[in-house]
Amino acid sequence: MDVGIVGTGSVGRALGTGFARAGHAVRYGTRDPDRADVSDLVAGIEGAAAGSVAWAAEGDVLVLAVPADAVEGILADLDYDGVLVGPTNRFPDAPEESQYALVARLAPDARVVKAFNTVGAEVMLDPVFGGEPATMLVAGEDVPAKETVLGLAGDLGFDPLDAGDAAAAALLEDLARLWIRLAVAGPGAASDRTLGREFAFVVRSR
Ligand SMILES: NC(=O)c1ccc[n+]([C@@H]2O[C@H](COP(=O)([O-])OP(=O)(O)OC[C@H]3O[C@@H](n4cnc5c(N)ncnc54)[C@H](OP(=O)(O)O)[C@@H]3O)[C@@H](O)[C@H]2O)c1
Repeated sequence: MDVGIVGTGSVGRALGTGFARAGHAVRYGTRDPDRADVSDLVAGIEGAAAGSVAWAAEGDVLVLAVPADAVEGILADLDYDGVLVGPTNRFPDAPEESQYALVARLAPDARVVKAFNTVGAEVMLDPVFGGEPATMLVAGEDVPAKETVLGLAGDLGFDPLDAGDAAAAALLEDLARLWIRLAVAGPGAASDRTLGREFAFVVRSR
């Protein structure tokens, strides 16, 4: 598959590395394809290249691995009708409109899927704990689009789970807010990965 990823930060790097490892081509859409860190990133990932956001959107799937505040500006310049994956989270307060609903409103022809928002980037790179794959919760209204993303989560090494519809997508954003709150102000000195483990296994008893 040809996977477009907007953003070359922590999540973009982790997902691009994992998708390429699974044999997918990765198109990074970045504000500056000529930046040295972007050149270094794609040089280190076989099958990855960088270009404009519009170029990345020519892939089979597009992941918005950008800050929540950047979503509106990016979608305003795109006319995208493919599978659009939103790992974006708002923290600390829950907005009236979920990120999922915002993306669906701003990209009305896209097939929007919520995924990759409930674990840290380091878990996306290495989702196996003690030999057990962590769960990746995936939600949205478009079932075939979700199947595509469930497959991609499986390719990363997760145990993918369809968590439900748009309402479930908003709940995944609440789950992420709890996780981030614990990470930044939680008890003890749990590392991101230790805390990630708790959230990654949150539905293992299903
Ligand atoms: N970090 C995590 O562990 C984690 C886990 C789950 C979900 N999330 C969510 O995933 C999203 C990405 O997180 P991240 O940690 O990867 O963020 P990050 O490290 O700050 O990277 C975001 C990337 O977005 C791109 N970008 C495009 N427009 C931007 C703008 N106006 N301002 C700043 N960057 C812009 C930048 O790439 P270019 O400079 O190449 O354009 C930047 O590297 C966020 O919404 C976050 O809530 C993060």
